[in-house]
Amino acid sequence: MKPSEIRDPKLVDQGRQKIDWVQPRMRVLNEIRKRFQQERPFEGLNVGVCVHLEAKTAYLAIVMRDGGAHVALSGSNPLSTQDDVAAALAAEENIEVYSWHDASDEEMEGFYHSVLDARPNLLVDDGADLVKLLHTTRSEVASDVWGGTEETTTGILRLKALAQEGALKFPMFAVNDAKMKHLFDNRYGTGQASWDGMMRNTNLTVAGSTVVVCGYGWCSRGIANCAKGLGANVIVTEADPVKAIEAVMDGFRVMPIAEAARHGDFFLTSTGNTDVITKAAFERMKDGAVLANAGHFDVEISKPDLEALSKEVKSVRPNVTQYVLKDGRRLNLLCEGRLVNIAGADGHPAEIMDMSFAVQALTAEYALQHKDDYKPGFYEVPASIDEQIARLKLSALDVEIDTLSQKQTQYLASWR
Ligand SMILES: NC(=O)c1ccc[n+]([C@@H]2O[C@H](COP(=O)([O-])OP(=O)(O)OC[C@H]3O[C@@H](n4cnc5c(N)ncnc54)[C@H](O)[C@@H]3O)[C@@H](O)[C@H]2O)c1
Repeated sequence: MKPSEIRDPKLVDQGRQKIDWVQPRMRVLNEIRKRFQQERPFEGLNVGVCVHLEAKTAYLAIVMRDGGAHVALSGSNPLSTQDDVAAALAAEENIEVYSWHDASDEEMEGFYHSVLDARPNLLVDDGADLVKLLHTTRSEVASDVWGGTEETTTGILRLKALAQEGALKFPMFAVNDAKMKHLFDNRYGTGQASWDGMMRNTNLTVAGSTVVVCGYGWCSRGIANCAKGLGANVIVTEADPVKAIEAVMDGFRVMPIAEAARHGDFFLTSTGNTDVITKAAFERMKDGAVLANAGHFDVEISKPDLEALSKEVKSVRPNVTQYVLKDGRRLNLLCEGRLVNIAGADGHPAEIMDMSFAVQALTAEYALQHKDDYKPGFYEVPASIDEQIARLKLSALDVEIDTLSQKQTQYLASWR
């Protein structure tokens, strides 16, 4: 076991407090942890994790460790790692941590290599960075890997491309596409946490402002609906005609970004695409506009275009970079265009990540139990895992639901 690489081991207590805050609120994961402690499904296995490193992720690592795993973990984004949480996790037995806040691209790559040096049998990836490395420079480690799980939409696009080429070397499961993940995490989690990031970093008023939300997918519809709840006038931009109609029917104005650019006080992208807001839009924006991204990579708001248009670039508040354009207008970019909810806040609420990480834990266990049944490729999470987590969550919330009678079940089945 290599020594952990973290910023400051003295931050253990502060990090521990953060983990202690979320743990009682992750009640599905608590139930899974109790079972894992008894059954030890991952006994003797190495698990490699690359996920945004904050308190909820730390608790997932502890749950996997309590299931018998040796866990090697890195953050998945240089600005989302919380150094105190990294310190607390590195102090745990059987967990190696490679991550610090504001790491350079080279340091991040070094962290991913360190995770792979632990020779993982199972992967928990977020954005497919570990998988990408295993299919390029570290292919010698791939033979140890029995399978893995992928957390986010963008990672799934990358894995699908690999699977279509027939290049994927082991089975990977699409955690993001499980209902108990994207219906709640992408929508309610990204919605609430992105506005937390926007508000705590700017301290500006949302009510009565005009908010432009780019995209109307799972994340962006959560962001748009939260903005509406905060009293903003919301404009949506989309490229998919069906999603655009959904946005219209949900009561939002829809228009191209070039037109929306004139109106917005706040702009928030979450499309998974590149160059969503570029020069043509920046040239039309109001003085003082605030720009942020909640998509996986920092390519949605074009930083090269912003730089090319600016006569000065300066830091004006923590996490706020101000671009002073040649005509004097000031555009404010949050968190260098990286995920505002994680780089500029604490990520999704604990109760939401409870469901996402329950999908991770149970799918990792499933991948292990069925390692001989799946060929290399890309797979959906079994529906039975969604149902199991939904029932555990309902029980945690003290909510009861109806059970179909035999007659009702037969009636529904008779149409199939
Ligand atoms: N911030 C977070 O914590 C968090 C959580 C989950 C997912 N994500 C990331 O957020 C991104 C979006 O995920 P999602 O699940 O909402 O995806 P999605 O596929 O449900 O939605 C993306 C939407 O963006 C639209 N779009 C694409 N290009 C566009 C453009 N140029 N202009 C306007 N709309 C455009 C698409 O038509 C689609 O409707 C991904 O990168 C994903 O990995 C972030």
